Amino acid sequence: MSDITTVILAAGNSTRFKANTSKLLYPLCGLPIISHVYNIAKKISGKKVFFVCNPKNKKDINSIFKNPNIVIQEKQKGTAHAIEKVKNKIKSKNILILFGDTPLIELSDIKRLINKFKFSKEKISLIAFETNKPHGYGRVFLKNNNVQEIIEEINLETSQKNINLCNSGILLANKKILFNNLKYIKEHKLKKEKYLPDICKILSNKDISTSYIKCKENNMIGINTISDFVKAQNILQKKYINKFINKGVIFLKSESCYLSYDTKIEPNVVIEGNVTIKNNITIKNGCVIKNNSYLEGAVINSNCIVGPSARIRPKSFIGKNSKIGNFVEIKNSKIGNNVAISHLSYVGDTYLGNNVNIGAGTITCNYDGQKKQKTIIKDNVFIGSNSSLIAPIVIETNSIIGAGSVITKNIPKKSLAIERTDLKILRNKRVK
Ligand code: UD1
Ligand code: CA
Repeated sequence: MSDITTVILAAGNSTRFKANTSKLLYPLCGLPIISHVYNIAKKISGKKVFFVCNPKNKKDINSIFKNPNIVIQEKQKGTAHAIEKVKNKIKSKNILILFGDTPLIELSDIKRLINKFKFSKEKISLIAFETNKPHGYGRVFLKNNNVQEIIEEINLETSQKNINLCNSGILLANKKILFNNLKYIKEHKLKKEKYLPDICKILSNKDISTSYIKCKENNMIGINTISDFVKAQNILQKKYINKFINKGVIFLKSESCYLSYDTKIEPNVVIEGNVTIKNNITIKNGCVIKNNSYLEGAVINSNCIVGPSARIRPKSFIGKNSKIGNFVEIKNSKIGNNVAISHLSYVGDTYLGNNVNIGAGTITCNYDGQKKQKTIIKDNVFIGSNSSLIAPIVIETNSIIGAGSVITKNIPKKSLAIERTDLKILRNKRVK
């Protein structure tokens, strides 16, 4: 359906979310909560997406999105008051309302809502969900299988508190019906707010019925508190992991792993336990990521073995069939094919060719105290264990660095470079 403008309500003060930033900017699996909502909204409405912000978070919304349509709600007088603010902006026939704090919604949920809406006479439909923990949500009261009324938690009678059909807040309405009746919503005394869900009772009294669909609780969670955030993140993690399992990725201890919203993993990859994959990671076919590894901002090409306990930092590229072993840290480096960096090394700001062996304990000394310097190690080089390579430095092809060396000059090709003081053996010097 093309004639829908989407409005994302994002002006709340996040008072229940005890963090320094607005909850809507908090990264959920690496992406701000509100961006999850926006990604769905743009699939429905393209450029016709509006944000209702408060004066404080306007700047943040502007920094996350490119030329967002922003409407300011100066004072937070409730969700109905927020919607009044967009009245003159909406040119489409219909309006979809999404909440900035309900990020787990899926496109298929909205598509079902649109379908329901198309076939409902009155042209106002919402998404409800059932939960055994309804506390905090508005409860949905039905009549003739339409929504008659929504009552917020704060206004429920004790006997109504165990009603488990809840309002998700997501609503699709004909613009005229909605705005012609918004004015009848009154301010509630307790919170001094106008509640958008009150529209249902107002319409119902005029014999205009609000239809509804039920969606999965897991897609409808509203994030008010940090505890809600943790719950939502766990749900999303499970969704991501299941998606990859269905594509042929094996998780040995899936419960202990963390993936990001943009993680890409090809089939035939094995992910062991306690692996953290932060933003911008691609893992190609046939790799094994072993226990306790921490990856961020890198491409790991096919058939690599990473870890256990490896750390790959942003702007890294690991070539095919390479091994990044235990307690190895790679940063801003391009590593070639068939490379082994098997133990206890730091490789930073480095270009490494193909078929290179980096011995245990090797350090690229990239920081001269002021600037980060580059290390270049070309094809077929062998670096002996416990070597320090003082950058900037180039080690040409087919060279060998003797174990324990501190290398301060460029090494020409096919050379052996070794830097050690002579070993002295002083006989019979030990007293005991
Ligand atoms: C709201 C619904 C409740 C529903 C629940 C689902 C109301 C009155 N209640 O409750 O029925 O079960 O969501 O999660 O709508 N906002 C504004 N301006 C305001 C107030 C809020 O833009 O003046 C925005 C918030 O940033 C948020 C959304 O509207 O994104 C919902 O507001 P919130 O205060 O979180 O409502 P709930 O108490 O969760
Ligand atoms: Ca909420």
